[in-house]
Amino acid sequence: MLQDKIKQYTEEINAFQPTSMNDVESYRLKFLVAKGVVKSLFEEFKSVSIEEKKTLGKVLNEFKQLAEAKFADIQPLFIDASQDVKREEGDLTLPGEGFQLGSRHPLSLVRKEIVEIFKKLGFVVSEGPEIEDDWHNFSALNFPPEHPARDMQDTFFVEKKDGNDIALRTHTSSVQVRLMEMGKPPFRAIMPGRVYRNEAISARAHCFFHQVEGLYVDENVSFADLKQTLFHFVQELYGEGTKVRFRPSYFPFTEPSAEMDISCTICKGDGCQLCKHSGWVEILGCGMVDPNVLDNCGIDSKKYSGFAFGMGIERITNLKYEIRDLRLFSENDVRFLSQFETEII
Ligand code: PHE
Repeated sequence: MLQDKIKQYTEEINAFQPTSMNDVESYRLKFLVAKGVVKSLFEEFKSVSIEEKKTLGKVLNEFKQLAEAKFADIQPLFIDASQDVKREEGDLTLPGEGFQLGSRHPLSLVRKEIVEIFKKLGFVVSEGPEIEDDWHNFSALNFPPEHPARDMQDTFFVEKKDGNDIALRTHTSSVQVRLMEMGKPPFRAIMPGRVYRNEAISARAHCFFHQVEGLYVDENVSFADLKQTLFHFVQELYGEGTKVRFRPSYFPFTEPSAEMDISCTICKGDGCQLCKHSGWVEILGCGMVDPNVLDNCGIDSKKYSGFAFGMGIERITNLKYEIRDLRLFSENDVRFLSQFETEII
């Protein structure tokens, strides 16, 4: 009886689980080809009574759909594997498929370069939190309570706490304090990191930027050590023959303090737009650590002395790659970023 056959084949199809491409092909040959089960049941259908046709027609059509749907399900199961086999059989001497490498961010490249130079001089890298308290960012560093840098205009405050406000650090000098509080001299460390200042964003200023600061504290550290260290750094970073000059300056945490200029990297001192025709560009602030700061951090300022310096990585990068707009560093424009050295990390 046709109805019994349909029932039996339906069960067979539902239970069928192919384990190879061959099983799938056998299924197709059994059920779906011109002389297969489906077609032959339709042949048989022609000879059943009109009464039976009414009910069996629907059942048979459903069976046909089931047989085809099953094939659609099982057919893709082994296709990928069979293609893999073909691939493995391919020419193994062909070059591999290329993939695009990313590139390092220019600020990371320059930070790395700065760190490498100081590492060779025996400096270690030291890091600290970006959310700081007033003590580490200001007070320990000898900022008088009414100093303008504490003003709302420069500092992003996180929490106002009586006497020890919490803020985003405005410089990485806070890490110097943490380092000195934690240990005993000698200290020879550099502190790379992100800092925040409440400034309107423009081509020349941003609300965050990156610094590398350095600290060297030991017995008998002198201003001559400071000058020699920074002179060496500049020769390494910008090439032999780059000139340096120190101008007196003021920072609450260093005494004496200075700003260091280098001969313009673009015009080599002849005068151009970058150096505003002076032949010199400023790259960092520095000085001898104020004895008050040493004492604040529990270090005997009668026995020890030290120097400190701090530079903005953006500024150093601008000079190196002639970038004129600070905003490019944080916009993540691939056209800008992909111009820098690519390396496998
Ligand atoms: N902290 C200073 C700044 O942010 C830089 C500096 C560091 C100056 C160390 C002198 C010594 O501008």
